[in-house]
Amino acid sequence: MNATSGKPFTQRLEATASATEALLLELLADKPLENEIIRPQRLLEAMRYGSLNGGKRLRPFLVVESAALFDVPHSAALLAGAALESIHCYSLIHDDLPSMDNSDLRRGKPTAHKQFDEATAILAGDALLTIAFDIITRDEIHPKAEVRLKLTRALARASGIGGMAGGQMMDLAGEGRFGDKTPPDVEKLQQMKTGALLHFGCIAGGLLGEASVKDYAALDIYGKALGEAFQIADDLLDLESDAATLGKPAGQDDALGKTTFVTLLGVDGARQRLKNLVSKADEALAGFGDRADVLRATARFVAERQN
Ligand code: IPE
Ligand code: IPE
Ligand code: MG
Ligand code: MG
Ligand code: MG
Repeated sequence: MNATSGKPFTQRLEATASATEALLLELLADKPLENEIIRPQRLLEAMRYGSLNGGKRLRPFLVVESAALFDVPHSAALLAGAALESIHCYSLIHDDLPSMDNSDLRRGKPTAHKQFDEATAILAGDALLTIAFDIITRDEIHPKAEVRLKLTRALARASGIGGMAGGQMMDLAGEGRFGDKTPPDVEKLQQMKTGALLHFGCIAGGLLGEASVKDYAALDIYGKALGEAFQIADDLLDLESDAATLGKPAGQDDALGKTTFVTLLGVDGARQRLKNLVSKADEALAGFGDRADVLRATARFVAERQN
């Protein structure tokens, strides 16, 4: 059982958020590790700025809660969650850059390139991406090297060309900025740019717990549905909410000419698709019975959240 079992959903989410915060703070300490030379202060500060004091920490939560299904040690799940969150934070820093979405506000604060400068923000993103692989390969993650290898490969694939980075490329191309005339495949684009990291959070527990083929497949379906749902909710919030509530700019997708399910299906159509995805996520978990209630609540949270 993990340390937060038995608590209501929001308390569990907060518990994982604060444990992740503490862990990231430790991982981003001043002292260099073996074979590191020094940790330049400005880069370290920018990495801390982009990864501490903020965010829902939903991705680490998915790792912790999927791992709890298989009685994986809580400390190992938190470490894998911190690696995933580190990649997520890098993706946000780069997503906000002037050459990408050109955002000034993130998690209620100036974006990293506004607070520091563009070059520092790029390097902070690079170093957060890299440290994630230092973390995910650590011995404490799992006693079997084979499990650590599978987890590491899965994280690489979720983050790279066929995952988040590839999806970001499609997202930018979808604005038409490279002269692309054909509209993007929004389903694939969103599965990649956002879905892939969230999906990794869901399967990570199965990998760490060496789940049966059936249990792994259930988490795979759940993770794909949840990942897609997450970006539709984000796109609806971009249209309907405001910067004060979101802690990031609102109305950006329209201003930048992004193609989303909101532009393709309209608000009602996007809402319906979101609802269907939450049901799909819920149904995928049937075999776990009430042990997966927290993951069910997470899918509802993804659809109903206000920021
Ligand atoms: C925002 O992700 C970026 C998207 C993938 C849409 P989150 O909404 O999870 O951001 P934080 O981590 O809580 O700030
Ligand atoms: C970003 O999607 C997905 C990432 C890989 C960071 P968005 O561009 O919609 O995310 P926000 O709205 O800026 O958080
Ligand atoms: Mg973007
Ligand atoms: Mg953006
Ligand atoms: Mg958005």
